[in-house]
Amino acid sequence: MNIGSGCAERQIYVGGEYVPENEARISVFDHAVLYGDAVYDTACAWGGQVFKLDEHVDRLFESAHALKIEIPLDKAGVREVVLEIVRRNKLDNAYIKIIVTRGVGRMPLLSPYHCKPNLIAFAIPYLSLIDSDAQQEGIRAGISSLRRIPSECLDAKIKCCNYLNHILMRMEANEAGLDEAIELDIGGYVAEAPGYNVFIAKHGVLHTPGENILVGVTRQTVIELRRRRE
Ligand SMILES: Cc1ncc(COP(=O)(O)O)c(C=O)c1O
Repeated sequence: MNIGSGCAERQIYVGGEYVPENEARISVFDHAVLYGDAVYDTACAWGGQVFKLDEHVDRLFESAHALKIEIPLDKAGVREVVLEIVRRNKLDNAYIKIIVTRGVGRMPLLSPYHCKPNLIAFAIPYLSLIDSDAQQEGIRAGISSLRRIPSECLDAKIKCCNYLNHILMRMEANEAGLDEAIELDIGGYVAEAPGYNVFIAKHGVLHTPGENILVGVTRQTVIELRRRRE
C-alpha cells in the first residue's frame, strides 16, 4: 500500500539500498518487530529543504547510542540518505522518517547481542495530524488518566520505536471526543503530548516543561525565536 499519495514508484531506503516500496522488506525476526527495539527520528522538508537536518540526525545518533545500537552509516551518510530519499521521491514538502532497528539476532529471543542494525528511511508528502482549519481554530486536548513512563524506567530523551505509552494516551483522548492528550509525568506535572512538546503562554511569558520530555527540535526552535525577540 502506498501511504499519502498515488506515487506507484515510491522509493524506500532499507538494507543499504533504495528500493520500490513494494519491495521494501525487513525480517519478522528483527528486534524492532519482536520487541519495539529500534530508534527513529522524524523530520520535515519544506520547499525541498529539510528543516534542521543536523539536529534530527544528531538526536537519532544520541538515541541509538543510549540503546547501544550501532547505526550502519556515519552522520554524513545518514544526512545524505535523507536528502536522497526526498530527491528520489520528487518531494518538496515531505514527512520523513529515519528508523534504525536493532536487527536480527541469532535466535528470536530477548538477547540484544549479535544483531545487525538496519537503517530505514522514507519520505512521503507532508502530512499533519492537525488539519489547516484546526490549526487556525485550535484543537481540544485533555489531561490523560495515564502517566508518562518515568525517565528512570525509559529515558524520555530517547526517541525509540516503543510509543505505546503515547498511543494509549492518544486513544483515550480520541475515544473521549478530544483531539489530543496532555501527558502528565508520574509526579502530576505536565510533560508533553503524544508527538509534541507543549507550551503555555501566560501574561506574555512562555512556559514549557523541561523534564520527562523528548527534547524536541521544534521546542528548541520556538525557544530560540522567542529569545531573539527579547
Ligand atoms: C513524544 C514526543 N515529544 C515531542 C516531539 C516533538 O519533537 P520534534 O519537535 O523534534 O519533532 C515528538 C516528535 O515526534 C515526540 O514524539
